[in-house]
Amino acid sequence: MNNDLHDSLHAAALAVRSRAYAPYSKFQVGAAILTASGEIFAGCNVENASYGLTICAERVAIGSAVAAGHKEIVAVAVVSSGGHSPCGACRQVLSEFGPAMEVILIDADDPTRTRTTTLTALLPEQFSSDAL
Ligand code: THU
Repeated sequence: MNNDLHDSLHAAALAVRSRAYAPYSKFQVGAAILTASGEIFAGCNVENASYGLTICAERVAIGSAVAAGHKEIVAVAVVSSGGHSPCGACRQVLSEFGPAMEVILIDADDPTRTRTTTLTALLPEQFSSDAL
């Protein structure tokens, strides 16, 4: 990924985090995904009074990209306080559209602090359509 795309992805993830609807956990998350065609789609976590219905930021971003016609994702940037990595459910959902995608983790408390890894490292032996 070139520097401009990296910066745009970083900025999009940070910006969307401010729209997180997280009145219960107070844990705001922003995610931005980069499609193979170079477009960026963002999502924030959306909580619910029925806690289990909460949707993570990564899955909101994926849904937005797929709804716009994109099915190949090359990178995701995730921003949270502490720069935590995606939950297991989100790793599996992300893998559907980019099993080897780059994963950039950003600490909202100091956004210059980032860690880059891959989905393959975070979710080895992922379940895929190959099994079906
Ligand atoms: N959350 C995400 O948005 N992404 C993750 O990968 C992990 C957790 C959200 C869900 C919930 O709103 C809050 O963080 C605390 O779990």
